[in-house]
Parts: sequence; C-alpha cells; structure tokens
Amino acid sequence: MSTLAVYPGSFDPLTNGHVDIISRGARLFDRIIVAMLMNAEKSPLFTTAERVEIARAVFKDQPNVEVDTFDGLLVDYVERRRAQVIVRGLRAVSDFEYEFQMALMNQRLKPEIETVFMMPAEQNTYISSRLIKEVFALGGRVHGLVPDMVEARLRDKLAAKTTR
Ligand code: PNS
Repeated sequence: MSTLAVYPGSFDPLTNGHVDIISRGARLFDRIIVAMLMNAEKSPLFTTAERVEIARAVFKDQPNVEVDTFDGLLVDYVERRRAQVIVRGLRAVSDFEYEFQMALMNQRLKPEIETVFMMPAEQNTYISSRLIKEVFALGGRVHGLVPDMVEARLRDKLAAKTTR
C-alpha cells in the first residue's frame, strides 16, 4: 500500500521552513500533497492562485509533490483525497500547544487519520511566514529564508505598493 500524506497550511508565503518539511515528507511518504487553505486570512499578502503558482514552481522537479487547495474541514479533505497522514512541522516548544490541540481534534473527528510531526533543520526553526512578511515590509533582508521566487514576488508587491 502506498502512503499519501497531506501537508496543510496557509503558506502566505511559502518559506524555506515549509520547503524543508515538504522535502522531508517527500522522502518519507510515497506522495505528499501541499494543501493550501483557501481564504485563510481576510487579507492575505498572496492570493491563493499566487501561492499555488509559487509552490508548483518550487517543486516542479519533484513528481511526488502535488500542490492543491482546500476549503472546509481538513480531515474531510484528507479523506476525500484518500490520504492516511497529516504532516505538520514543529519548530519550537511554542508550536506544540496549538499543534497538539489540532492533532487531537482531527484525531477525534477521523481517528483513522494519523498526524505526523516533523522537525525542520535547525537553521529553519525560527522562520515563519508572519515574520517574513513583517521583516520584508520594514526593509529587512529575507534572502536565504524563502525560495528565490518568493523573494522576487515580495519585491514586486512592495514596488507595486510604493508606486501606487
Ligand atoms: O499554516 P497554518 O496557517 O498554521 O495552517 C493551519 C491549518 C490550515 C492547518 C488549519 O487552520 C486547518 O486545518 N484549517 C482547516 C479547517 C479545520 O479543519 N479546522 C479544524 C482544525 S482542528
């Protein structure tokens, strides 16, 4: 039996921490679906279409990585896709409480779906989409923390904002 995993999230934007977890998942499972929650935030920086485009471009050479979107309950999506595993990244103890709650709620909703936590490489443990957006908006350098395409798109967004 092949194992299909779902790695859900907002990915606004995709960071090297996400890329790290997806690459680990792609080695561990037969296939991993990067599942982007649609309308996660009221005003996301990147549209769903942009986030999907970026992730597809970053993983274009990895045939066992699929990029998709979902809405509604995560466990319903996982079941619909006939996946067995939810992958989540754990960076620090501070992530644990929220992740623990979600894993247990998802377990209660669909006990047959297993949540697997993976740790990124140490140099990726402090990266978060929220901090990337904040640092970049205030003129800080995010090179090496996000894929090059994300950095370029962030620059485009900033340029569009300043010429408006
Ligand atoms: O990367 P994020 O933003 O922390 O991801 C959170 C996400 C998308 C995994 C979570 O919000 C989610 O699963 N949302 C879908 C709705 C749902 O199933 N909620 C109950 C979770 S216990």
